[in-house]
Amino acid sequence: MNPLNSVIVSTLQIFPRGFVKRFAMRYIAGEDISDAVRLVQEMNSKKMTATIDVLGENINTKEEAIDSTRAAKEVLEVIEKNHLGANLSIKPTQFGLNIDHKFCFDNVREVLELARNHGNFVRLDMEDSTTTTATLEMYESLRESGLNNTGVVIQSYMRRSEDDIRRLMEMKASVRLVKGIYIEPESIAFKGKDEIRKNFVKLLNLLLEAKCRVAIATHDDYLIDAAYDLIARFSPSPDEYEFQMLLGVRSDLRDKIAADGHRLRVYVPFGMHWYAYAIRRFKENPQVAGYVMKSILTGK
Ligand code: FDA
Repeated sequence: MNPLNSVIVSTLQIFPRGFVKRFAMRYIAGEDISDAVRLVQEMNSKKMTATIDVLGENINTKEEAIDSTRAAKEVLEVIEKNHLGANLSIKPTQFGLNIDHKFCFDNVREVLELARNHGNFVRLDMEDSTTTTATLEMYESLRESGLNNTGVVIQSYMRRSEDDIRRLMEMKASVRLVKGIYIEPESIAFKGKDEIRKNFVKLLNLLLEAKCRVAIATHDDYLIDAAYDLIARFSPSPDEYEFQMLLGVRSDLRDKIAADGHRLRVYVPFGMHWYAYAIRRFKENPQVAGYVMKSILTGK
């Protein structure tokens, strides 16, 4: 993150939420599920699919985890009722991963069972490194219990990721490959832009070679080009891979990938708890400093 962006994003956090919300809403469908439905319908009309995320993470009580479970199931029902081309992404800590693993597993299983009844799919997002092992173990247990309508996320900045991928390859796992967004120590994570990219390409190569289902989740032109080369080399069938991008980020690139004939899924978050998600997005937006300064100076 460049130093000016860093200062601006830190400063932004002392502004009223109403001011921050003005910038946040480009990354979020809205606060209500009907906002997500509208947006997914728009994506579907452009021949793109979506993955819906109910915003929120790191809850502290079992009651909150049960609420998250109910909200996730509601999204699955809404997808079914409105015939949306969409699946669901969930963050394990929202379902109680940091409270009790077994309790979290039971909540997630409930969601996956409903998804399976609807012929739908649930992706377990990957959070910070304190949750990596538990998330992958939960994924393996879900698969062992016969639930195959699920997948995981692997972060190319993590040094452990190649070992994780080799284990996931044996299970023919569905993997979303990302760079990784949390701040991790250098002892466990690559820090340089080039080494993170290099590892991303290496891991993507392994996944395509092993014929795992892979979601290539990036807005980085360099990685998209590398992915195009690997797709040409391994010729995966259309249901073996897709590109994924975040709502509000590089819609130009999104349209180009879809126009090139590749499947494209947009990550569509919605809900009341948009603040932490939006701050993470601001940190990655090279233009955020300019937008915020302009808004402060012009009052618009
Ligand atoms: P990079 O950050 O270099 O961005 C490439 C270019 O895209 C930038 O130069 C800029 O032009 C543009 N850009 C990127 N972010 C922008 C922004 N916020 N606003 C405006 N422009 C922007 N991470 C994780 O740890 N766990 C997870 O489960 C997921 N899940 C996930 C799902 C999907 C569908 C995506 C696309 C990403 C994730 N991520 C994630 C986030 C991921 O780890 C990573 O932080 C972001 O995708 C940014 O990395 P890029 O590969 O896009 O490169």
